[in-house]
Amino acid sequence: MKSIQGRTAVITGAASGFGLEVAKVAASEGMRVVLADVEVKALEEAELLVRALGAETLAVRTDVSQAASVEALASATLERFGAPHFVFNNAGVGAGGLIWENSAADWEWVFGVNVMGVAHGVRVFTPMMLKAASEDASYEGHITNTASMAGLQSAPAVGVYNASKCAVVGLTETLFHDLSLVTTQIGVSLLCPGMVPTGIERSERNRHTTASLPLTMSQQVAKYMSTQAMRAAKTSASDVALMVMQALRDKQFYVITHPKALQSVQMRMEDILQGRSPTDPFAQYPGVREQLRAALNPP
Ligand SMILES: NC(=O)c1ccc[n+]([C@@H]2O[C@H](COP(=O)([O-])OP(=O)(O)OC[C@H]3O[C@@H](n4cnc5c(N)ncnc54)[C@H](O)[C@@H]3O)[C@@H](O)[C@H]2O)c1
Repeated sequence: MKSIQGRTAVITGAASGFGLEVAKVAASEGMRVVLADVEVKALEEAELLVRALGAETLAVRTDVSQAASVEALASATLERFGAPHFVFNNAGVGAGGLIWENSAADWEWVFGVNVMGVAHGVRVFTPMMLKAASEDASYEGHITNTASMAGLQSAPAVGVYNASKCAVVGLTETLFHDLSLVTTQIGVSLLCPGMVPTGIERSERNRHTTASLPLTMSQQVAKYMSTQAMRAAKTSASDVALMVMQALRDKQFYVITHPKALQSVQMRMEDILQGRSPTDPFAQYPGVREQLRAALNPP
């Protein structure tokens, strides 16, 4: 997208983490910002922050897992600002543990937000953007979907999350190909972050529709280990926001925040090409597998 000033951004998961940081950068670059999030109080605070940067804002309480809620977000956006130029389908939640220990409710919750949230965003906003493009040759749009490095490799003890993010990778690569059949006016990016400190470790705070059970031992271990990894992370959510906005300008598809992690993606691809069983994705981080195994098999 060549010109950002005065354009409209719609951001889901805008009350925290990457969504909030992207909202702040978008506002400081002169965009109008629609903030969507399920957490009401945090959403109100985020809107005040973003408005203080000089942006015109609209905050819409949205549960991205619900079709009607995303449709209402789109209607409110259209009514206030017209068709958006940048849609950031970013809201997401995390859950871990040995894959057979996740309950049906865990799967429904994580897939509801991480997969159906992105699907609803694409389903509802893309036709609005295509219509705007067909009516105005100068219209430029961009859709960025948040997956994760977990969508490109399969680390142990976060299976439900990995599976949801693989779905977002497939969905977004297909969106890129499908859009290229019908327009050159709408770009697509796939954000694949590594570990970054945000509110994701407290995802349960927004789990209202499906009951969460007490965490199993493997779920506690997975949570502890990912919290430790996040605390040690050097990349911040604001660094990621700058990458997201640069990719929007450059029409860059893959946005990889932790390029070192691509080593294990390459290894996975080689495993597939050579017909081998999967290599340990933690191989480049000595001790992690041993720590996980020890925690899961106490003496
Ligand atoms: N932080 C990381 O290390 C990391 C790594 C890879 C991918 N991601 C992905 O980044 C995205 C943003 O997460 P984050 O790390 O900024 O976490 P975060 O918890 O700080 O922000 C996520 C936001 O999504 C909102 N949300 C949760 N459920 C929702 C729902 N049903 N409808 C609407 N909003 C909802 C939350 O209220 C929160 O404001 C997620 O898709 C996550 O999976 C994060």
